[in-house]
Amino acid sequence: MGSYEAAYRLAETDPEYFWLVAARGITWNAFPKQALDASEAPIFRWFPDGALNTCFNAVDRHVLAGHGERNAIIYDSPVTDSKRTVSYTELLDQVSRFAGVLSNLGIGKGDRVVIYMPMIPEAVVAMLATARLGAVHSVVFGGFAPAELAARIDDAAPKVIVAASCGVEPSRTIAYLPLVDEAISLSQHKPAATVVFQRPELVAQLHDGVHDWADLLAVAEPHDCVSVQATDPLYILYTSGTTGKPKGVVRDNGGHAVAMQWSLGNVYDIGPGDVFWAASDVGWVVGHSYIVYAPLIAGATTVMYEGKPVGTPDAGAFWRMIDEYKINALFCAPTAIRAIKKEDHEGALIANYDLSSLKALFQAGERLDPDTYHWATKHLKVPVIDNWWQTETGWPIAANLRGLEPMTIKPGSPTVAVPGFFVHVVDGEGKQVAPGVEGSIVIKLPMPPGTLPTLWGNDQRYIDSYLSTFDGYYTTGDGGMIDNEGYVYVLGRTDDVINVAGHRLSTGSMEAVVASHPLVAECAVIGVQDQLKGQIPRAFVVLKSGSEIDPVQLEKEIVQSIRNEIGAVASLKEVVIVPALPKTRSGKILRRTMRGIADGRPEAVPGTIEDVRVLDAITPLLKSTKA
Ligand code: COA
Ligand code: AMP
Repeated sequence: MGSYEAAYRLAETDPEYFWLVAARGITWNAFPKQALDASEAPIFRWFPDGALNTCFNAVDRHVLAGHGERNAIIYDSPVTDSKRTVSYTELLDQVSRFAGVLSNLGIGKGDRVVIYMPMIPEAVVAMLATARLGAVHSVVFGGFAPAELAARIDDAAPKVIVAASCGVEPSRTIAYLPLVDEAISLSQHKPAATVVFQRPELVAQLHDGVHDWADLLAVAEPHDCVSVQATDPLYILYTSGTTGKPKGVVRDNGGHAVAMQWSLGNVYDIGPGDVFWAASDVGWVVGHSYIVYAPLIAGATTVMYEGKPVGTPDAGAFWRMIDEYKINALFCAPTAIRAIKKEDHEGALIANYDLSSLKALFQAGERLDPDTYHWATKHLKVPVIDNWWQTETGWPIAANLRGLEPMTIKPGSPTVAVPGFFVHVVDGEGKQVAPGVEGSIVIKLPMPPGTLPTLWGNDQRYIDSYLSTFDGYYTTGDGGMIDNEGYVYVLGRTDDVINVAGHRLSTGSMEAVVASHPLVAECAVIGVQDQLKGQIPRAFVVLKSGSEIDPVQLEKEIVQSIRNEIGAVASLKEVVIVPALPKTRSGKILRRTMRGIADGRPEAVPGTIEDVRVLDAITPLLKSTKA
């Protein structure tokens, strides 16, 4: 039996032993005597009697162990033409003092802090300082508009918001304080204070209730770590669901710390002193887990890159980074590699750099298409490792475990279920299907440490959204199959969540915005295939009878309202007027059928003549693209 199989079986037959051994990788104030608490099943908690502080594990313990001079963070920002490193000693100083700032603003154990910041080290400082106080952070991705930020403020009810004065995109500098002000004016809940980190690219005009990060820091005393129960929340991360209202995924302290430490070594084969670069954003789960917590808890060096894979200055940007910082593993979304491949198809720029430090390229966030896999394998000459997971799980559900036991790669598959995740494919009735047969991918409960225990303040929504379709299983929302060697294949979402350039978005929330246009009678937004971004949203609208508008003008207005209400990141660029939308007898729009036609994969056509007529009428429009 190989190491993988032994670990997988042990996690299944004796999870108490398996996870208590894994827990030894963490420094506890009270080592847990128990791993799993199933007393409130189907809500499970891990390490109920353990106590710790996550920030202590990510920072202090490395300084105490004599590694203070090691780089904790390498920051490289081609969009602002700046670079700097932060050692573990410097990080400890900044984090403990910023924890003092937050404490002076009234933040204590259990209080929430919303963080709306770009990819700068201060975002990590704000996250860790919140964790240091036993408080709960909720980081909101900078590409979201004020209305989205307001929805998160209302749900998380933070006492304080921490922001930067601006974000810098290659095409523009975005002033953040006006966005925060607008969000607060839209939200019911009003935070007591806002702290702004001033960036030289755009200095914010502060007003009442808004404080300058540097001013507060200058007078703050360093604050020590506050011990919390393993089951206390560390963060809330909002993600798109099937309805417009984002779901507040809760992450606990203890299970999360154990999962981060275990996965960085066993999945990514990264340990203390290694340089790990997750080219994502702190606003997404990949950023939380593999820019911030896992590398720092493990005592590695993490890389924060503020820029794009192409155009800053060219498609060699990623290879320059690997060479300059001797990066051992790069983790990014396939869309980033597709963007590079589009600009430098022959990989000519790669030859300009020494990539000998690189041991592997990890890919996640969306399906790794075989073309991208082959291109990267050929040109980078390292294993290209797909891994599948989601905001809710916090770490890989299926992976090729490079540290535990590397396996043969099958293009199109993220390889096997990770120990602790018991993955099955079921049909509509919840019956397990045979190998190679497609169905819904589900995970047997309980899921391992580090996965969501619930949704913020809403156990019932957690149960309804994830646990009620198939009894005893967590529904991932992904469809796929498992082959006869246990390789998992993830083929796409079964709900209305789409994945645009590695960014998870809800077509439901886009439909709500499109439907609010005064001339729109009804609409459907579906994700269609896109060569660069994987998927892009396309809106189909039926106009109210008698309405007249220039289609170009309508498109302009709807695109703008999506940017205003959701954010530029939604990338809605196309609005198509159709005479009618195909529906079921009960009036449900046939989005799946529309998606199938748009992608050239027509599937079971609905029953009535009327449906067929509607579909015939809109088929050419579904297939049309301006790309
Ligand atoms: N703040 C403000 N605006 C943002 C933003 C942020 N943090 N991030 C993106 N945006 C804006 C962009 O400026 C762009 O605006 P525009 O329509 O006015 O040009 C829009 O949102 C769409 O951005 P994006 O999807 O990033 O598209 P792009 O064309 O700028 O870049 C890629 C395309 C593929 C290069 C880029 O999406 C990429 O690198 N993706 C990887 C994503 C990733 O790592 N995801 C995490 C999962 S691992
Ligand atoms: P997020 O919660 O933003 O991480 O998005 C999670 C979703 O992205 C999953 O449910 C999948 O639909 C998709 N996804 C992530 N990684 C992969 C992968 N390796 N292969 C296929 N789909 C993926």
